[in-house]
Amino acid sequence: MSSSFDVGPGGRLSGRIRVPGDKSISHRSIMLGALADGVTEVSGFLEGADAISTMNIFRAMGVSIDGPSEGRVTVRGVGIDGLRAPAGDLDCGNAGTAMRLLMGLLCGQPFDTVLVGDETLTRRPMRRVAEPLARMGARITTRDGCPPVRLHGGASLRGIDYPMPMASAQVKSALLLAGLYADGVTSVTEPAPTRDHTERMLAGFGVTVERHGATASVRGGQRLRATRIDVPADISSAAFFLVGAAIAEGSDLVLEHVGVNPTRTGILDILRLMGADIEMLATREVGGEPVADLRVRGSRLRGIDVPPELVPLAIDEFPALFIAAACAEGRTTVTGAEELRVKESDRIAVMADGLNALGVQATPTADGMVIEGRGGEQAVFGAGRIASHGDHRIAMSFAMAALRGSGPVLIDDTDNVATSFPGFPALAARAGLSIHERHAGAAQEQPVSAAHERAGGAAGRAQA
Ligand code: S3P
Repeated sequence: MSSSFDVGPGGRLSGRIRVPGDKSISHRSIMLGALADGVTEVSGFLEGADAISTMNIFRAMGVSIDGPSEGRVTVRGVGIDGLRAPAGDLDCGNAGTAMRLLMGLLCGQPFDTVLVGDETLTRRPMRRVAEPLARMGARITTRDGCPPVRLHGGASLRGIDYPMPMASAQVKSALLLAGLYADGVTSVTEPAPTRDHTERMLAGFGVTVERHGATASVRGGQRLRATRIDVPADISSAAFFLVGAAIAEGSDLVLEHVGVNPTRTGILDILRLMGADIEMLATREVGGEPVADLRVRGSRLRGIDVPPELVPLAIDEFPALFIAAACAEGRTTVTGAEELRVKESDRIAVMADGLNALGVQATPTADGMVIEGRGGEQAVFGAGRIASHGDHRIAMSFAMAALRGSGPVLIDDTDNVATSFPGFPALAARAGLSIHERHAGAAQEQPVSAAHERAGGAAGRAQA
């Protein structure tokens, strides 16, 4: 069944909301909790499809996990050498983070594993992880660099010193996790800072991770001690609301308990450079991660040249930022963002197509985009229909565009919104967006469910 969003034009965002838990931290909480000695309690866990895939994968390797229930998860760690061979393939669904981090974590196990994913994930590049892991001694086969990924057990790993060719937290994390199983020290040097949740969380589990400038290192053979993890709200999910409130005049919205790790706050810096009014309130540290409430009010935005050094710190937020750029006065230019081409979709091509479909002049480039902002006009976007290409962040970004639309924006293929943001339409509606979710399958199934209803079927009642 495929769902879609139908978003009415205009409105503003207000009130106080909390978006779901951080996806990156949720994945890692299961992975490290599973490898630890003892029981790890997690709260604020993202109950989205991606993090659930990771949870099911560890269950398949013999880890007992309770939950999620209202964001609470209990992971009974099996220790660094306690995972068991799974009976079948491990399904990462849509989750690139799960697959890439698992490649590192599983390539040093004594048993074989096969990592598979959905249609989108099956097109994403895995060589960037497979190649350095092979240098460590891992035996990995892919299908032309893409999933399925076969990890052949029993490899003996040795630490390497790896200068990463691209700024990728997933590659860095995969190598550090493999490093736990390697002889000697594994060091990764990043060309620009990327999210450091793996390093922080490993430290929280009692593992020594050294940091010297751009290099993070871990020595093999260390054990993890179970801990408590409080997952903050995901700044990447907050991003849609930050942009929505910033572009819609009269908005005044507070986003509660948002993770503001400095390796993730590029969105705040970029929006502020554009003239957005964002306040960080009540900053505190929770379980090794900084957290704050973010208050954002509608304001006039101006186009900017996005500083390239901020790009990796806002990498998942560009779909939303492109919407902000369209609502700014003047031109916005993004460069150094070629990584956007290998996300859940080619986010440069798909966003440019969508913006053009709604009447905004957006020119894709090899590594970014040039957007002619129409902030001088109240209605920036025309009515139109957007192909999200099954990319959750594309769908949610265009939903916010309707706040400055002259007519409805229809967004196709929105099922994957639930990978990172279950409950998005309801929460967005509560904040003030005129959004309706449609289930294509449900309408078609209507006669069937009516027949069930006549026959007194429970399924019919549930669907009616
Ligand atoms: C992630 C790292 C980023 C990001 C992804 C989550 C992580 O990917 O885009 O959504 O949790 O480490 P890259 O490492 O490929 O940049």
